[in-house]
Amino acid sequence: MRERSTALLAWYDRHARDLPWRVPPGSDARPDPYRIWLSEVMLQQTTVAAVKDYFATFTRIWPTVDDLADAEDAEVMGAWAGLGYYARARNLLACARVVSRDLGGVFPETEAELLRLPGIGPYTAAAIAAIAFQRRAVVVDGNVERVMTRLEAIETPLPAAKPLIREVAEAMTPETRPGDHAQAVMDLGATICTPKSPACILCPLSEGCAGRIAGIAATLPRKLPKKARPERRGLVYVARRGADWLTEIRPPKGLLGGTRGFPTSDWSEAPVPAPPFAGDWVRTGEVAHGFTHFTLTLDVMTTGATGNPDRGSFGPLDPGDLPTLFRKVHDSVT
Ligand code: ADE
Repeated sequence: MRERSTALLAWYDRHARDLPWRVPPGSDARPDPYRIWLSEVMLQQTTVAAVKDYFATFTRIWPTVDDLADAEDAEVMGAWAGLGYYARARNLLACARVVSRDLGGVFPETEAELLRLPGIGPYTAAAIAAIAFQRRAVVVDGNVERVMTRLEAIETPLPAAKPLIREVAEAMTPETRPGDHAQAVMDLGATICTPKSPACILCPLSEGCAGRIAGIAATLPRKLPKKARPERRGLVYVARRGADWLTEIRPPKGLLGGTRGFPTSDWSEAPVPAPPFAGDWVRTGEVAHGFTHFTLTLDVMTTGATGNPDRGSFGPLDPGDLPTLFRKVHDSVT
């Protein structure tokens, strides 16, 4: 299976995407572990296109891990707003602080040591070890799963196919250039071996691809039917005093933890109203938002009155600092 890796690396040498954290193939430069770590954390659950501007902003404001470690929590949460999965931002900051304060600003090089850091799971540890430190590590993300199931025509659905996928990925991972190999599989998955219509005609691995030969590549990987997402509801309270808005920082744990938002009730099948101050609250609309495990519909409540809120405070608001859910609420009233 190493011939596959050789063909793939030759393709990568010519077609590697130009990405802001990446050292191009053939360059003598060493990747900056801080930038590799930051990009990999940002890229979890997201695409390169969604991440690029955030990556540019973060590295401009915080060019080193020590700079990020010294940042205020709220500043980092604000800069992350819109990228989603806010636990990642809280872990990002926790990890930066461990690396800066306990490890002298130096990222560890092995998967095992990387795994001990906040927010770094098996995928991210392997990706950083391979890409930043040229350590042989088997990197498996969604792109890799798609490419491997197609190469071997694995028809077992996910997640049951995961151990077999890992074996195929392991067999293909070379001793030399493991970082370029990992990035080559990712680029192949993003540009050629795409989910719906793979461009097999352009693929450097098409000759030995069992999925293509069997005519089933585009249908892989198979997945068990998705369960319908349950629905939750809630109420969100939008109050303004002149140019100021009532917002709060949400509790650190749980969904959207640590982000800025408008006060809400609980989110459940039967939410209990919880206005931040007594007043003539009227329902002026609703906002729907999909989370990974449920969909949420918020009744947007507004009032002309102002009172002393029992949580949050009035102040200026940059809607860019809000996560997408609350940006939708903001946009629904402006
Ligand atoms: N997706 C996740 N990590 C990536 C990387 N390093 N290069 C390209 N796509 C990616």
